[in-house]
Amino acid sequence: MKQLDLTIILAAGEGTRMKSKLPKVLHEIAGRSLVEHVLHATAPLNAKEVRLVVGAARELVEARVSATFPEATFVVQEKRNGTGHAVQLAMNSAPHIGAVLVLAGDTPLLTAVTLQEFFDAHVGLHADASVLTAFTPEPFGYGRIVRDDEGNLTKIVEERDANPLEKEIDEINTGVYLFDIAALRSALTGLKSGNSQGELYLTDVIELIKSANQSVIAIRSNDYTETLGINDRSQLAECAAIMRDRINDSHMRNGVTIVDPTTTWIDLSVDIENDVTIYPGSAISGATKIASGAIIGPRTTLESVIVGVGASVIESRVAQSEVGAGASVGPFSFIRPGTVLAASAKVGAYVEIKNSSVGVGSKVPHLSYVGDATIGSGTNIGAATIFVNYDGVDKHQTTIGNDVRIGSDTMLVAPVTVGDGAYTAAGSVITDDVPAGSIAVARAKQRNVLGWVLRKRAGTKSAESARKAGAADGPSKV
Ligand code: UD1
Ligand code: MG
Repeated sequence: MKQLDLTIILAAGEGTRMKSKLPKVLHEIAGRSLVEHVLHATAPLNAKEVRLVVGAARELVEARVSATFPEATFVVQEKRNGTGHAVQLAMNSAPHIGAVLVLAGDTPLLTAVTLQEFFDAHVGLHADASVLTAFTPEPFGYGRIVRDDEGNLTKIVEERDANPLEKEIDEINTGVYLFDIAALRSALTGLKSGNSQGELYLTDVIELIKSANQSVIAIRSNDYTETLGINDRSQLAECAAIMRDRINDSHMRNGVTIVDPTTTWIDLSVDIENDVTIYPGSAISGATKIASGAIIGPRTTLESVIVGVGASVIESRVAQSEVGAGASVGPFSFIRPGTVLAASAKVGAYVEIKNSSVGVGSKVPHLSYVGDATIGSGTNIGAATIFVNYDGVDKHQTTIGNDVRIGSDTMLVAPVTVGDGAYTAAGSVITDDVPAGSIAVARAKQRNVLGWVLRKRAGTKSAESARKAGAADGPSKV
């Protein structure tokens, strides 16, 4: 089997129409930058070398690409003088013989399968140059594929340089090519900038290779959506929606129920087992893994979360944390990085937890903040409990044992430890450790001032009701 010697990805443009500080190829779809999508699609072809032509914000592009594809190399195009010029630069110091794939960094929907079929056709037909083409309902803006009476490719003409008849052609140049390296190298020397943009067009090499009596073929892809290029934010959204549908379809084929695929956004990096149910309005990203039987959503965001078998996360946001098997979160809770909820733990409504562990079967059911804490198993944290972890300068740790009952509205002023089986009285401000098995009561004793309303609020509805209830004026001084 013939091997691909070189892949060239054109990614030097700034993407002016994106109107962005970020270069176009670093905009993201499904958690990957556009250029990374292209790199992933080309990777299975296993080219001996992958070379990117970079220019606009090249430090950013190089850093991002190198993080995932450390073996990729870069060629700098200082002045953008067209796709032909970009390829000329990339071909300097390229191997002298072999096959080269050329494509743009802004076509994120191309698949490895399509590229492999394209490569196989190019090799099988012994072509010197092959162009991947597509029929599209909206050819405007693309280079058009001009064929002769026998249907053979003769040239590619750009929209701006096309005559009215050529503009009618609905077969477009996808911007994906395979070349024999020697044929491309010699054609590149013949490029001229006599076109409407005054640039060197890569597309012109087709005519040049053909006129050197070398074989040039156009290979049609069956799915034009794969070859959509991104030039502005509407096209970014359009491609993102196509990618979203592809990802959701593949999860559904694997046995995941997605109640509303149009409002469910799952990144490519996410792993989901069968029999998981995802309700509408959920976004799942990063290194998230969801085990079988879990329920996610509606309106839930998971970012790099490990979700155990049968767990549920409802109307909540969870980041860089673990939700154990059978554990439940929500509705309306916020689980921040570094949190581990053990099996069957429960986090109820309006709870924020940060960098803490909650033991097996323990509960934080209502309206609490838990920060920098370790909570044992079988423990209940009463409603509106606050772990006071910050003294204004440093963060401190709280340790709560097993089978503890923290009374509602307790302030646990860290650093503090509550021993196994201990209780705290509701409304306590706990500043000292609580020994195992004791109850800590840390609040002012209640006093009732009898008749106060009758004396101080005479004539009000409260006083009237109190009088009806049999309240007496009581002592005038206390
Ligand atoms: C190009 C093709 C067109 C095809 C279309 C497919 C040419 C002349 N035209 O048009 O036939 O239908 O792609 O999407 O090739 N780039 C550089 N350096 C440059 C110019 C461009 O690196 O000097 C890069 C861009 O960053 C981009 C890619 O090459 O990633 C394509 O350039 P772009 O200007 O978008 O070409 P199109 O007008 O889309
Ligand atoms: Mg383009």
